[in-house]
Amino acid sequence: MKKLSYVDFPKIPEELLLSIEGITDPNRPKPVTRGTPKYWIEGFSRKTMNDELIEWLHNNLPIKIDVVQYQVISQDVRQHTDLTTYAYNYQLTLGGPDVRTEFADESGNIVETHVIPTYQWVRLKSDVLHGVAGIEPGQLRIAVNIRTSEHYGD
Ligand SMILES: [Fe+2]
Repeated sequence: MKKLSYVDFPKIPEELLLSIEGITDPNRPKPVTRGTPKYWIEGFSRKTMNDELIEWLHNNLPIKIDVVQYQVISQDVRQHTDLTTYAYNYQLTLGGPDVRTEFADESGNIVETHVIPTYQWVRLKSDVLHGVAGIEPGQLRIAVNIRTSEHYGD
């Protein structure tokens, strides 16, 4: 099984998405989640999602949703593993023209690389080593992010 694959979940109606300014508003809080992250990741922040979008995701996606949030990445993310098994991402901005989502084996050798487009659902295995490379300075990589222990499709 590939560590990242495209899934054919429905596109999010645009009117349900906050603007970039709304998502990155310094007054917009960080969601409360269960568990403590294994370590701090530089340049990675999480923002609470608007209720209308949370409701739409619960009603329209065929997975059990544990955490929903906006994620904002402002610089390359070094290889790490997450506490949850799977993440479903829907990119709103990419952070540059050639930003790679990379997966590594246990020795840190890159074994899988993807340049994903905006407005396309992807599922990625998040409990194996992965990172993000190629963010352009001053650009933001913003996604709708769902975390779950549930696996959909192949
Ligand atoms: Fe991650």
